[in-house]
Amino acid sequence: MDPQVLVIFGASGDLAQRKLIPALYHLYKGQFLPEHFAVLGVSRTDYSDEAFRKEVFLENPHLGDSGKEEGFARMLFYQSIDTLDSADYEKVRKRLEEIDENRKTGGNYIFYLSVPPSLYTKIPAFLSEHGLNDKEKGWKRLVIEKPFGYDRNSAGELNHSLQQYFHEDQIYRIDHYLGKETVQNLLVTRFANGIFEPLWNRNYVHHIEITAAENIGVGKRGGYYDHSGALRDMVQNHLLQVVAHVAMEPPTTADAASIRSEKLKLFQSLRPIGESEVEKFAIRGQYIGASIDGQRVPGYREEEGVDKNSTTETYVALKFFIDNWRWADVPFYIRTGKRLPTKATEIVVYFKSPPHHLFRSELDLMNMNNQLIIRVQPDEGILLKFGMKVPGAGFKVKNVGMDFHYSDLTNATVPEAYQRLIIDVMKGDATLYARGDSVEVAWKFVDPILHAWKNQENIKLYGYPAGTWGPEVANKLIDGDNVSWRNPCSNLTDSSDYRLL
Ligand code: BG6
Repeated sequence: MDPQVLVIFGASGDLAQRKLIPALYHLYKGQFLPEHFAVLGVSRTDYSDEAFRKEVFLENPHLGDSGKEEGFARMLFYQSIDTLDSADYEKVRKRLEEIDENRKTGGNYIFYLSVPPSLYTKIPAFLSEHGLNDKEKGWKRLVIEKPFGYDRNSAGELNHSLQQYFHEDQIYRIDHYLGKETVQNLLVTRFANGIFEPLWNRNYVHHIEITAAENIGVGKRGGYYDHSGALRDMVQNHLLQVVAHVAMEPPTTADAASIRSEKLKLFQSLRPIGESEVEKFAIRGQYIGASIDGQRVPGYREEEGVDKNSTTETYVALKFFIDNWRWADVPFYIRTGKRLPTKATEIVVYFKSPPHHLFRSELDLMNMNNQLIIRVQPDEGILLKFGMKVPGAGFKVKNVGMDFHYSDLTNATVPEAYQRLIIDVMKGDATLYARGDSVEVAWKFVDPILHAWKNQENIKLYGYPAGTWGPEVANKLIDGDNVSWRNPCSNLTDSSDYRLL
């Protein structure tokens, strides 16, 4: 791999300590880092190199206590600047020159913006003023964390602004769901096997359901979340990326350009949900206080940083269609929420029932008993459900499952998403990063829903007790008799305090 420096803006912040430094350390221990490599932390806080090493590495609570290797600490450097003062970027430039000289890093830099979104446009401009985007003296890459825009317009403006200083092929937009092993494995499951793909279309698939449930509430992020909500926070990015992996056409090759072009096509095929039909296709909810195992869990409006009359959704369920040859009229259902009973992300592909019911008495059981359940997290794996004859007289049919767990693989640990994403940007592989055009198209899909929720006061916001699977009315979103969401476990509370807010 090329020699290089990873420059982390916002290096004294939470993400660096929680995710970036631990991911880099694991890469170091696995000997995946380039021979000539350094990390330059940049932030406002006044640290020396030594103090920075101590803070983010030696005393990092997310790294455990034992056996921290000094060799890694020596790769870490720090430069304090006022990120809003262009003149200060000269210090960064000088520091990088020094590092290049001492560590032979060849002028190849990744600028990782782990900073508030208001700085996303400023830092690239200042870097450019100091020639730090100049590709002549080594390659330059820019990594942007989410949120990428607030709606379609702001995402477009942000793209435009970044592209003034960096070319699209230098810009890496993080969506950490794409770094998840199981999300990548969706492509392998579909395109490396001969048995699934022939069935993966409107002729055999009845509907597809994707759930991303979280049992935690908003915690200390109330201030951010109250201006975001579940649709912006999870659906526009993570869940639509998962949808793309589930539904896109096979790419011609497994490289960034082909895969990302197929995803764009898929996003362009999403049937728009017009503002006037939002109530029919989207359910929004917000958790309310409940008692779980004798302990009271606060409602969303009681959380720190949240407006007492907030109408921000902490739950969203959507039904939509993909208007293309493969998926015409197959409903897709996606939902996500905070304070649901468990943490689980999974995809369920429901196959159609056989065309002729031979075992008539077992009709109910035969109703869509073929399901492929892809567990993204936790307990990563794949479960295939099908009907089997119960031994003995007659033809009694029972639903059984073939279940693969990643944990059954010996010597295979599922790496943390950030490790994979960091190594990819170091190699210059953008496959698992979101491309500017598809981010805008994804916003285009969610924008009318956001507008309708903001402007049409009559659209209902359902309260659901913390520890339940969200508003009961979300079950009605799913077409068909006796079909509802697959809930991986039951509610944690008996509270039936579902009310309109
Ligand atoms: C983040 C959201 O992007 O993803 C959080 O901002 C959410 O609100 C998190 O909790 C979920 O990620 P994961 O990897 O825990 O499923």
